[in-house]
Amino acid sequence: MASKILIVDDEPSASDYLRLLLEQDGFEVRATANGVEALIALETNPFELVISDLRMPQMDGLELLSHLKQRWPDLPVIVLTANEGIQDVVQAIHLGALNYLVKPSSPAVVSEAVKKALRLRPGSRSAPPQVHELVGESPAIAEVRHRVVMAARSDVHVMITGDTGTGKELVARAIHTYSPLAGGPFVAHNCALSPPELFESEFFGHRRGSFTGADRDHGGLLRQADGGVLFLDELETMLPAHQAKLLRVLDDGEVRAVGSEKSHRVSVRFLAATNRDPEIMMQERTLREDLYYRLRGIEIRLPTLNERIVDVPLLARHFAGTDGTAFTPDALDALMETTWPGNVRQLRNIVQGAKAAAGEEKIGVGHLSLDSVSWGSRAAASGDASSGSGRDAVPHGLTLRELERRAVEQALADCDGNRTRAAKLLDIDRSTLRRKMQEFGLD
Ligand SMILES: Nc1ncnc2c1ncn2[C@@H]1O[C@H](COP(=O)(O)OP(=O)(O)OP(=O)(O)O)[C@@H](O)[C@H]1O
Ligand SMILES: [Mg+2]
Repeated sequence: MASKILIVDDEPSASDYLRLLLEQDGFEVRATANGVEALIALETNPFELVISDLRMPQMDGLELLSHLKQRWPDLPVIVLTANEGIQDVVQAIHLGALNYLVKPSSPAVVSEAVKKALRLRPGSRSAPPQVHELVGESPAIAEVRHRVVMAARSDVHVMITGDTGTGKELVARAIHTYSPLAGGPFVAHNCALSPPELFESEFFGHRRGSFTGADRDHGGLLRQADGGVLFLDELETMLPAHQAKLLRVLDDGEVRAVGSEKSHRVSVRFLAATNRDPEIMMQERTLREDLYYRLRGIEIRLPTLNERIVDVPLLARHFAGTDGTAFTPDALDALMETTWPGNVRQLRNIVQGAKAAAGEEKIGVGHLSLDSVSWGSRAAASGDASSGSGRDAVPHGLTLRELERRAVEQALADCDGNRTRAAKLLDIDRSTLRRKMQEFGLD
């Protein structure tokens, strides 16, 4: 039986366009001119999808959306917006809209969005997930968890920001896990790790023989991620020209492989991560504004570990494992007094190292190799010399060279061997890091 779709728009031309299009696709469509009419229609008829304009007289789209979500929480809603109304979209997503369409959208884009919405429709009123993988009880992490749930329930692209090691990838994977797309692929791509020359071929794929070295057909990331998620890590390293190409795919879903005549339509949800501030990148023109606004249907900012230091004991116990490994109170104090430039990942590494060192014993201060983490306790960092744990901030008797070697080693460990990130953590460029690694025999 044809799915029933309710359109709500005060502009007859807009709703006629949609109605015609959707009827051609075989749907049963009813159009209403405002929120009140829409609510009455819904009381008397079952609909499987609502497509609603945002700016309407009487009851606007946001108000309608809150009524809908209270009364029929599982009914998917796509909102319509003119380009200049994109701010309202963010609010609509917060209120539970599944996705949005910019007016006017091409028939192909509308069809795809509608079909996807109907496919994703959850079968029952499901309780919000708990997102257990994100450990922590601070208000800052609670807000992150809330946004992960929101992202999982909608289908918009997500921008995830935060310093190195704060959990951006963990968040991206959690969004996917709890979303109706969970059965689809999750393709992770680190933009920093592939040369710009390969961008086209990596994202769009290539035909065999289309350039030297292309000895077989290659589907490309976008087609791999079709029906699921493409996680774009370290977005800050993608060239603006490539960002423009990506934006085109976001807008029309068309992918054409290098050397191919035929294009394919893909449906990909983008989760992008960066450890830089998007505002600053836009000022520098390293991030295209149009791409940013398309990607941040929802934006999730991960707090640094210092912003949620109350979570350190919970995280420490989490990383020590469930086998009853305990910490001495001193050790927990020391962990809470440390500044964590490498954030949660660094804490994880320190705890795992300590656990190995402690064996059967409780983990004590002596097992924590904190000297290499941050040369200065939180107390020292905030200029308060009277408190602190009394540990020496910088280990005595080391040469500068040895300190440097340790810093490089530690940064590499904290970044799981990822040189780009380790270089960032050390605030040097990659070539300097490479030289230091050679110098210290670390490569
Ligand atoms: N809230 C959290 N609870 C439990 N583990 C966490 C949390 N946040 C991060 N982690 C863990 O910390 C490590 C680093 O996280 P992740 O790789 O997601 O960071 P990231 O922000 O992507 O870092 P980078 O910018 O360096 O790529 C992972 O092992 C992850 O599981
Ligand atoms: Mg990461």
